[in-house]
This record gives sequence, C-alpha cells and structure tokens, in this order.
Amino acid sequence: MSLFNREKVRLARCRVDYNNIPEHIAIIMDGNGRWAKKRALPRAAGHAAGAQLIETILEYAGNIGVKTLTAYAFSTENWNRPEDEVNALMGLFDKYLRRAFKKMMLHDVRFHLLGDIEELSPSLKSLCTQLEETTKNNKTVLFNLALNYGSRAEIAYAAACVARDAANGTIRPEDVDESAIEKYLYTAGQRDPDLIIRTSGEKRVSNFLLWQSAYSEFVFSPVLWPDFTPACLLEAISEYQKRSRRFGKV
Ligand code: IPE
Ligand code: IPE
Ligand code: MG
Repeated sequence: MSLFNREKVRLARCRVDYNNIPEHIAIIMDGNGRWAKKRALPRAAGHAAGAQLIETILEYAGNIGVKTLTAYAFSTENWNRPEDEVNALMGLFDKYLRRAFKKMMLHDVRFHLLGDIEELSPSLKSLCTQLEETTKNNKTVLFNLALNYGSRAEIAYAAACVARDAANGTIRPEDVDESAIEKYLYTAGQRDPDLIIRTSGEKRVSNFLLWQSAYSEFVFSPVLWPDFTPACLLEAISEYQKRSRRFGKV
C-alpha cells in the first residue's frame, strides 16, 4: 500500500466505530470498463485491475472484523457481452482463483461460490469446487464470490426445489414459508448482508441478492471499482454507521 493510501486510510479510520462493523458486506464491483476507457485501455485491462483489487479488499475487510464478504463478479446477464470480453473475464477468474488458494488458507478464509456452477467451464467449475472443499473448515471470513449469479434465477431455482419437495410429499404446500425457500438459496444458512456497496455511481441493484437485501443498507460510491481503496470501504462503513436500522419496528 502506498504512503498516500495509508494516509487516506488513517483519515477515514477516525470516523469508523470498530465495535460496529457490519458483519456481512456485499459489493457490486462496477466500473471496470469506464476505468479502462478513461485510460484508453481495452475493457479487459479494467477487469484485470479490478480482479486484483478484490484480494486487497478481502484481506482488509477480514482485518477489521467483517465476517462475510460477498463480491458480485459476473451476472447471468453478463454472458450477453461480446465474446472476447466474456473470455477475458473467465480467464481472469481462473487465474485469480488459482492464486487464491494459498492466501485463503493463510487468512483463514472460507470460499463459497454464489451462482450456477453448471454453466461454468469444466476447469473453472473444478477450481471452484476444490476451493470450496479445501477451505471448508476456515472460520475467520466467509468469502462469497457471485459468479454467474442472478437473483431471479436463484429464487426460481429455490421455488423449483420446493415444488419438487411438495410433489414428493416432503412438504405440504400450506407449510411453504420463508425458511422453506431460504434453505435452497445459494446463501442458505448465511446472515443477510448488512451493507451493500455499489461502486461507479450507478444506483441500481442489477439482479443482485433481491431476497437477501430485504433490510440491507445501501451505499452508492462514485468511485470506479479499480480505484476503490480500503479507505473507500471505511467511508462506506462510516456512512452505514450513521443509518438507523429499524426492520419495520419503531
Ligand atoms: C464491472 O465492470 C465488471 C462486470 C460487470 C463483469 P463493468 O464491466 O460493468 O464496467 P462498466 O460499468 O462498463 O464501467
Ligand atoms: C452488475 O454490473 C454486475 C456486476 C458488477 C458483476 P453491470 O455493469 O453488469 O450492471 P448494469 O448492466 O450496469 O446494470
Ligand atoms: Mg457495469
């Protein structure tokens, strides 16, 4: 980390209450393309810069006590991008996940893939499965990588599972409640996100955690994802700490 960044972190730190760090932070990592465009680079260069950054943010989040970090890396709709961009992204996921083994073991991070693994390439699929298996007993941080993730697809999948259970008599239709659906989501058993950050100035959800975000706080940062520093994370946390979460109560 450069001296300049260290100073920024120090400054932002002053405004953060370290006894009230959100347990689960989810990030919509947006703006790689615009970051590259500003530098007259190909979009893939923006994705490469962005992929590198998630390691830094994951490590930093773990250090300040975040228990779960969820990162939106590729949506079900992102398959509609030009083939060369999709290929560049898949290549980056492969490269970074391969590298991640050691670091995740070192920092006691448990890896979990959020998304439909079946549509990934055989090598990426086996990499994700191996990473989940190798890190399954790690406890300090849970890292959810949302890759080929679509919230509507996730909910439709859960509904299909519940319909199957009803058809084979495991559950009666009148007993279908929130927990019956929840147990089939990719996030089954996890705490809902406390804070969802979207970078790049866009103010939309783009099919991310529609069920799980029922009571999440949203922070929209103007910073493009490859420029997002630990200090930006602290700023978002500081903003979160000013909010009053009521969950429908007074
Ligand atoms: C986010 O950056 C990465 C993915 C969606 C895969 P974008 O590629 O969406 O960057 P912009 O929004 O075009 O700047
Ligand atoms: C959302 O970003 C998905 C990820 C960050 C992976 P997009 O760039 O795909 O979203 P839209 O198209 O601007 O809504
Ligand atoms: Mg985008």
